[in-house]
Amino acid sequence: MSSPFSAGKLVIANWKMHGSVTQVRAALSVLSQDSACNQSHIMIALPTPYLLLANEWQQQQAGWQIAAQDVSSFAEDGAFTGEVSARMLADVGCRAVLVGHSERRQYFAEGQQVLSKKLKALAQHHLLPIFCVGESFAQREAGLAWQTVEQQLDEVMPLLKELPQVVVAYEPVWAIGTGKVASLADVEEMHTQLQKKLLHSLPACATMRVLYGGSVKADNAEAILALPQVDGVLVGGASLDLGQFKKICQASEKR
Ligand code: 13P
Repeated sequence: MSSPFSAGKLVIANWKMHGSVTQVRAALSVLSQDSACNQSHIMIALPTPYLLLANEWQQQQAGWQIAAQDVSSFAEDGAFTGEVSARMLADVGCRAVLVGHSERRQYFAEGQQVLSKKLKALAQHHLLPIFCVGESFAQREAGLAWQTVEQQLDEVMPLLKELPQVVVAYEPVWAIGTGKVASLADVEEMHTQLQKKLLHSLPACATMRVLYGGSVKADNAEAILALPQVDGVLVGGASLDLGQFKKICQASEKR
């Protein structure tokens, strides 16, 4: 039987809270015309107001896929002012949604309860969660990197067990937006542990991917994507620079 990890590598752009109608239109046009970016293994996680612009490109057969950066923990539509449901994200053509990003954990105090509800809501609408885990610098320094990541996974394991496809993004908090990328040896070690854990905990899952995120740039993407334990990358800052992002997409093509 083939390994659940053997599928091609994903590249996910996380634009975070950046952009304008004009910029997003221009960027989506560039990505759609670039042969390395206009591919189904490339996903763009846009700010919610711009998802519909991406959907318009999808109607014109853009090759890349749409992702959202967040979803409501309320599974059903209703009187929840300001919230955006999983159903709405699916309705505007989203294929995947980031869950548990360290910025959501840090600034919005998202923990086990709310993250579990989000995973459940996504599963109901057949959206693929990109579940993010990662340790702080202090936790790494204290030798608690794996323990931290394992606990974040264990907290939602019952929900992951329900999914036909699981994508986990390892994003060490200290590497996000800092220019400090984890060493290849550290990435290799953490991903090996994550793969082992997922295989053990989710024996029935058909497709699994472990992505790396944290200061992925044009000049380090190739080496990171070359690691057999890395099934893709989640890119923040460098995805806003289309020249860099194209190079990262090109690096994923070689794999
Ligand atoms: P940077 O690539 O800017 O470090 O951000 C990583 C990230 O948070 C992607 O989700």
